[in-house]
Amino acid sequence: MFKKTSTMSGYRDPEVLVGLDLGTSKVTVVVAERDGPSGEAQIIGVGQAPSDGIRKGLIVHLDQAVRSVRQAIGDAENMVGLKLSEATVSFSGCDVQSLRSKGMISLGRSPRTVMQLDIARVIEAAQANVTVPNNQIILHTIPVEYSLDGNSGIDDPLGMTGMRLDIDLESVIIPSATVQNVFNCVEKAGITVTGFVIKPLASALGAMTQDESTAGSVTVDIGGGTCGVAIFAEGRSKSLAVIPVGGDHITNDIASVLKIPMIKAEEIKKEVDIYSVDHEDQDDLLEFDHMGKNYSYSLTELTEIIQCRIEELFMSLVRTEIANSGVSMLPAGLIITGGVAKSVGMDRYLSRVLDIPVRVSSPLDANRMPPGKNGPEYTCAAGIIRYALEQERDPYRYIEQSMDFITTKPVSIRKPDPDPKPKKKPFLEYIIDILKELFY
Ligand SMILES: Nc1ncnc2c1ncn2[C@@H]1O[C@H](COP(=O)(O)OP(=O)(O)OP(=O)(O)O)[C@@H](O)[C@H]1O
Ligand SMILES: [Mg+2]
Repeated sequence: MFKKTSTMSGYRDPEVLVGLDLGTSKVTVVVAERDGPSGEAQIIGVGQAPSDGIRKGLIVHLDQAVRSVRQAIGDAENMVGLKLSEATVSFSGCDVQSLRSKGMISLGRSPRTVMQLDIARVIEAAQANVTVPNNQIILHTIPVEYSLDGNSGIDDPLGMTGMRLDIDLESVIIPSATVQNVFNCVEKAGITVTGFVIKPLASALGAMTQDESTAGSVTVDIGGGTCGVAIFAEGRSKSLAVIPVGGDHITNDIASVLKIPMIKAEEIKKEVDIYSVDHEDQDDLLEFDHMGKNYSYSLTELTEIIQCRIEELFMSLVRTEIANSGVSMLPAGLIITGGVAKSVGMDRYLSRVLDIPVRVSSPLDANRMPPGKNGPEYTCAAGIIRYALEQERDPYRYIEQSMDFITTKPVSIRKPDPDPKPKKKPFLEYIIDILKELFY
């Protein structure tokens, strides 16, 4: 991962890990320091900058996005007093697809111990059954489940005994141009990309406890422009998805229905308790002044606008992802995180609508993060560090995509030849040239 080569003060420091989250609302940098030989790392600082040039998780203006990354990196560097040069990068993108494939290998005619090489072989066998559409790449390859001699639910077959090893593999695919643009942005900001992690995976690792991951749960990170969905069971990721809906849609809905400025819609959205209003008999009015004008709205009407968007997101879009994951039971329920999870009454409202346990999650490492920079909107960034550590511990849990597809050189554009065919010399010019050669 990240090996620090120098510090601002000029001496060498222990190794640090850096996570860079390119969000629609903000860019976040989390810096963690390795904790000696334990293999763990402790977060030592968080940097942040408002996000420009990123919409719905996609880079839409390269230079603006580069500036935001530089600013967030600078903020983190100031906080930790180190010069940062590499990072594992999280982003969402909205064209993410999950493909499932199966693979099988024989271990021989008599039972024997499964070795690391066998795990690599069975993964390769399943990878061979994935058809990646043109201009797309596999960003993550994740073993969903192993079976040994037909016994499913094997978490880690290494060292176990059997004759036949099966695997169910998830391949997360994404347009290569999306990843190339993220790569270009981060490298242009002076940071070397050491790896990528898709937002729902980083958020789930940042929020979910071991018990929730084992029992079965869905983590939903609702950010400004996208919603990341990660379904985990038996301690493994079963499905990852990105839905292009976020808190900015709620703000737009409020602004357009109530015909108020976006800035005011954003402000009042954060004040409404979306659970309690349904339970109150009388309808209160929400009154406010904006630029000398007086506004008055029914609180029920305002709540319904928010509930409508949230219900569409969970009852339709998230529910479809859960159904497609093949996981039938989620006893540990729903974990919500991301900025929108801070909405007042969101957990109680969702628990009532979906009839499952709901928990609002800040990063699991929140106590190590600076106050004010450790709420649910920082879960994804903190999860990048957990992802990087997990990958070092077990390289077969989240198999890293080789970055071969990335073009590191700037693309040179060939100018079209304005006159591709050689012109025929007029006959008279031809004669003159011969005469010149003869007489000069
Ligand atoms: N207290 C609050 N109540 C309701 N919504 C909130 C609150 N605080 C922040 N939000 C909303 O959360 C969203 C930003 O969340 P977050 O910072 O997690 O997004 P992001 O990571 O930058 O974006 P994304 O993950 O979608 O790319 C905005 O829409 C913002 O209005
Ligand atoms: Mg986010």
